Amino acid sequence: MNLNTRVTELLGIQYPIVQGGMMWVGTAELASAVSNAGGLGTITALTQPTPEALYKEIARCRNLTDRPFAVNLTLLPAVKPPPYAEYRQAIIESGVKIVETAGNKPHDHIQHFKQHGIKIIHKCTAVRHALSAQKIGADIISIDGFECAGHPGEDDIPGLILIPATADQIDIPIIASGGFADGRGLVAALALGAEGINMGTRFCATQEAPVHERIKQFYLDNDERDTNLLLRPFRNTSRVAKNSISDRVLEISQKPDLKFEDIQPYVSGLKGKLALETGDIDAGLITAGQVQGLIHDIPTCKELIERIIQEANQIIDSRLTKFIRANE
Ligand SMILES: Cc1cc2nc3c(=O)[nH]c(=O)nc-3n(C[C@H](O)[C@H](O)[C@H](O)COP(=O)(O)O)c2cc1C
Repeated sequence: MNLNTRVTELLGIQYPIVQGGMMWVGTAELASAVSNAGGLGTITALTQPTPEALYKEIARCRNLTDRPFAVNLTLLPAVKPPPYAEYRQAIIESGVKIVETAGNKPHDHIQHFKQHGIKIIHKCTAVRHALSAQKIGADIISIDGFECAGHPGEDDIPGLILIPATADQIDIPIIASGGFADGRGLVAALALGAEGINMGTRFCATQEAPVHERIKQFYLDNDERDTNLLLRPFRNTSRVAKNSISDRVLEISQKPDLKFEDIQPYVSGLKGKLALETGDIDAGLITAGQVQGLIHDIPTCKELIERIIQEANQIIDSRLTKFIRANE
């Protein structure tokens, strides 16, 4: 069973299912497992402590799969920005063919990658940003709705509106992101004008995700209400799982004279890493989306991807065509 779209053609993959970049989770293990299962796996550049470590991680991924995979470069405001130019160079020199860019001011990065023939999936959360990425040469737009884990932007437009609104204005292929976990979501995304789906949280609860078993179980136990939106006052909104740390950050954020220093100790990325590694749910922030409400098991990436494709085919073939036949 297949679902061929411009996304599968452009990326040279079997199924239109992408694993988005994920801090601390997007390692060679997960990326190669997704790619070997016919989707597009993604290594997250900034999870590697140095550009040299990224070279090695890309080489490790090549040893684990001969299928296409991507590298994510996330461009977010930081107290001390990482050496982006060096990470970019590591990606180019390693011969990576696909890059997922995400975040603010991607122009120079995209143009540099394009000069080296790299295909760009630009992930963004607004139609205007999709338009500008298309203009500067992005090959695919991954449009991330308000439901998504991580950074949903500041406009709060859910996928049901954002995906078709983007499809109305964009000519290059679109990948729908945020809230996807199963075949129903994939068919919905295709119906809304996308040609594939991008998933984050769902891939965290797979056998191959480098995440502690207790955190995988936490994603399963949570439902669609168990997220908090943090950093809103700083216009850097972040959707994370509800836990004692994210609750505390929300509480502190009520202060009228809030300063970043008030919450800084709680939002440290390294504490989030500790939670994922040790399974201590309250060690730090755990990035998660509302799609937690649709996650009920911990399959391998292969089982997950094949199930999604099979379910999508069944929905298209029987459920949807039945409605047409019923009207004949
Ligand atoms: C644990 C985790 C870490 C993430 N880290 C990043 C990141 O570093 N860069 C990025 O562009 N997106 C990041 N994301 C967002 C995903 O790539 C994807 O866009 C998002 O999860 C889609 O929403 P979903 O979780 O509902 O599938 C992260 C998501 C999760 C769950």
